[in-house]
Amino acid sequence: MKPKTPSGLPVSREEIRPIYPVHGLPASQELALKTRPAHGLHVLITGGAGFIGSNLAEYHLHKGDKVHVVDDLSTGALSNVEAFLSHPHFRFSQADILVWDDLNKAVTWADRIYHMAAVVGVHKVLAEPIHCLSTNIAGCERVLRAASANGWKPQIVIPSTAEVYGEAHTSGGALPSEAVDFTGFREDAELVVGSTAIKRWNYPVSKITNEAMGLSYGQAFGMEVLVARLFNSVGPRQTGRYGMVLPRFVKQAVAGEPITVYGDGTQTRSFCDVRDTVALLDALASELGNAGEIINVGNNREISIHALARLVKELAQSASPIAFVPYRVAYGEGNVETYRRKPDLTKLLAHTAYRHQWTLEATVQDLIERERANMEDARLVAWRPDDARVFQECMVS
Ligand SMILES: NC(=O)c1ccc[n+]([C@@H]2O[C@H](COP(=O)([O-])OP(=O)(O)OC[C@H]3O[C@@H](n4cnc5c(N)ncnc54)[C@H](O)[C@@H]3O)[C@@H](O)[C@H]2O)c1
Repeated sequence: MKPKTPSGLPVSREEIRPIYPVHGLPASQELALKTRPAHGLHVLITGGAGFIGSNLAEYHLHKGDKVHVVDDLSTGALSNVEAFLSHPHFRFSQADILVWDDLNKAVTWADRIYHMAAVVGVHKVLAEPIHCLSTNIAGCERVLRAASANGWKPQIVIPSTAEVYGEAHTSGGALPSEAVDFTGFREDAELVVGSTAIKRWNYPVSKITNEAMGLSYGQAFGMEVLVARLFNSVGPRQTGRYGMVLPRFVKQAVAGEPITVYGDGTQTRSFCDVRDTVALLDALASELGNAGEIINVGNNREISIHALARLVKELAQSASPIAFVPYRVAYGEGNVETYRRKPDLTKLLAHTAYRHQWTLEATVQDLIERERANMEDARLVAWRPDDARVFQECMVS
């Protein structure tokens, strides 16, 4: 496929500007690539040292693609991408997407951009409301503007969120929390966020803006932009530090500490394993016909947070008690809890042949095993060489 300029003229990247060399690859190999290939894609991941971004990086490297991650490590961690640093097809830049000097070069190199960099998590959003708005809105626009500036137009995947459904009602007019026959939020639902005086809404407001910007840039500049509304991804490398529920429950259950359920636990969520999330994002982006679409990405199995706590406790065979913490205590003022977050997946399943591979039980079991292995590693690291020598001497004497 030859990319098109807004004027309709086909261009190749070499006609626009030289490709800058990727870590470890001879420039000649890079220059041989003329059009967007099915394999060996150049993938730029902003926020790629975060939870979903690092799983995207792993997925694309495994597929044989080349990956460039940019991340300021504000909530992400170098340890999330450490395993790929020596990979010849991987490159890491530590930078703030708002001021990164190499952004233009990087987008010109890229066949596909996943713009994952954002301020995420209830605790962060409430503690840093301005930072959330500026990073999420200005960061996204900077990426879109850079991508639209050249003849070569990379595909762009914009991750939005289930939070944009805010307080949307079901098609029958009821609140999702009251509807017995609720089949999930559909992409064509009206988006009803609460008052902007409540800081918690800054996050969906920023993501709604990203959606509108992405689709508008796509139309104006002939770019393939896909908006994926993500519903609660869970899995390896997710941190519980910023309010994410499952990693917190797993850590608490494995440590034998109280499992802290915020509110009364009747609120429900629908969790999707991140390995399914990234495969779905790739499958959707790989289909040209999906450009310009807004598509829910998640799993529609619904579970209450109390039932999730019981599931984690049971699979970890933990003696931890389940403790209920009022929202006010957990988050302070400024939070409004949304009671139900279930996606309608009709559109997703119609737009891709990929089907979920992970059940919630398998994910939870996997996370419990990883947490146990981490605790064991931490125990071994805590074993200082001096202690080992003293121990040896005791054994000898
Ligand atoms: N995890 C989910 O269930 C979920 C649900 C809906 C939407 N999303 C969206 O998916 C994306 C990734 O989320 P995640 O869960 O992996 O969160 P995350 O916090 O793990 O990842 C975000 C990454 O962006 C980086 N970052 C933040 N500001 C930056 C900046 N100015 N410059 C460069 N890097 C910056 C962080 O260091 C982090 O590594 C976000 O856009 C989020 O809104 C996630």
